[in-house]
Amino acid sequence: MEGRRPHRARLRPALRLNHGTTGSTLSHLEGGLSGRSYPADGLIGLDPADERPLLARYDLARAAKTLNREPLAARTSGGLWRWHELLPVRRWESVVYLGEGATPLQAAPRLGRNVWVKRESLNPTGSFKARGMAVAVSRAAELGARHLVAPSAGNAGGALAAYAAAADVRATVVMPADAPEANVVEVLIAGAELLLLEGLISDCGRLARVIADELGAFDLSTLKEPYRAEGKKTMGFELVEQLGWRMPDAVVYPTGGGTGIVGMWKAFDELDALGLVGSTRPRMYCVQSEGCAPIVSAFQDGSRFAQPWPNAATRAAGIRVPSAVGDFLILDAVRRSGGAAVAVPEPAITEAQLRLAALGLGYASLETAAAVAGLEALVESRQIDRNDEVVLFDTGAGFKSAPPRPPRAQTIPNDEAFWRERVVPGLRRAR
Ligand SMILES: Cc1ncc(COP(=O)(O)O)c(C=O)c1O
Repeated sequence: MEGRRPHRARLRPALRLNHGTTGSTLSHLEGGLSGRSYPADGLIGLDPADERPLLARYDLARAAKTLNREPLAARTSGGLWRWHELLPVRRWESVVYLGEGATPLQAAPRLGRNVWVKRESLNPTGSFKARGMAVAVSRAAELGARHLVAPSAGNAGGALAAYAAAADVRATVVMPADAPEANVVEVLIAGAELLLLEGLISDCGRLARVIADELGAFDLSTLKEPYRAEGKKTMGFELVEQLGWRMPDAVVYPTGGGTGIVGMWKAFDELDALGLVGSTRPRMYCVQSEGCAPIVSAFQDGSRFAQPWPNAATRAAGIRVPSAVGDFLILDAVRRSGGAAVAVPEPAITEAQLRLAALGLGYASLETAAAVAGLEALVESRQIDRNDEVVLFDTGAGFKSAPPRPPRAQTIPNDEAFWRERVVPGLRRAR
């Protein structure tokens, strides 16, 4: 095992937001499949009735009294915590805030006439996983957890390590041995314990469960506790607010465990219940790789649950998820929205990453590139019209993905004659 905790200095709150109660209107938890109710103020993982996800429910009538357009406009800082009435953390002192949320929604006319890109790569830790971990770690620590464990394709592990360090709780991250190097480094640098497992994320999930059972750690696996989805739902709140309280026609999202899709779908219903939007919803499009497409396959078969994908393989590590415990929640949202789940070929992902950078949209992660390839396929097949208003999710920064190919840059001797004879003529020819 690698990792250590070099110091246990109290860092919390990383950025102070406020003190006292947050005004959270969290009322209870509800089984996503069973519909059963459970109290919300204890550490709990899956629904005891069926081992399926639990969803956080709020007193929306009470939230509506303070959470509306003008007060929100006046909340000019605090990132995702601006939405505190609809988040589970009860006291500001429990909130671990590193600057997550409030990411820009940028017009991307070179990608498509009406395409907006939600720049989740600008979150602390470089991916949208910061949102889920900010809320889940804050809440777990508030409820008394002192040791957290999670399996991760990479980015969630990095985010867990960062937020656990800020909350001063122990964290153990289990990642596939071939996880991107950047994720390995960020976990270790934050002082979390790292276990690199010869297997897929589903195997990492099994080891995380053993650690939780044997050591009493709290399992923060995606959708196996109720609050990571709560952090991620704020992407849905933000995109609607940023569009002037309007729903786009379509949302395109690279999908692995699916918490992003599930969270945003829940967010739209909550905004609707608050009277902040009407009943229209965007069509939700999940994008997966042809090398690992369990949700796409279930969508095409008309099944409510997905079958585990054998020999899952894609360079886009975050969407290499052979089975998702919230499969039915993803599929329900996609179907109810009138959207679809599509798979893109691996070469299209690599090409889209290069094309995005060439279009001036920066060095995007392979997962973001998959979403772009998915958007192009959806436009090609006329499922998305060229005039549709689309929000595409840039879920992570390119620096965190496996590099496209071994670095090609060559070293140059420190010799001016060589520069003049070889380097300058080479650059001249390249023009
Ligand atoms: C950059 C990136 N995009 C997308 C995903 C998939 O997200 P979700 O599990 O919410 O479907 C991940 C998950 O690791 C990721 O790291």
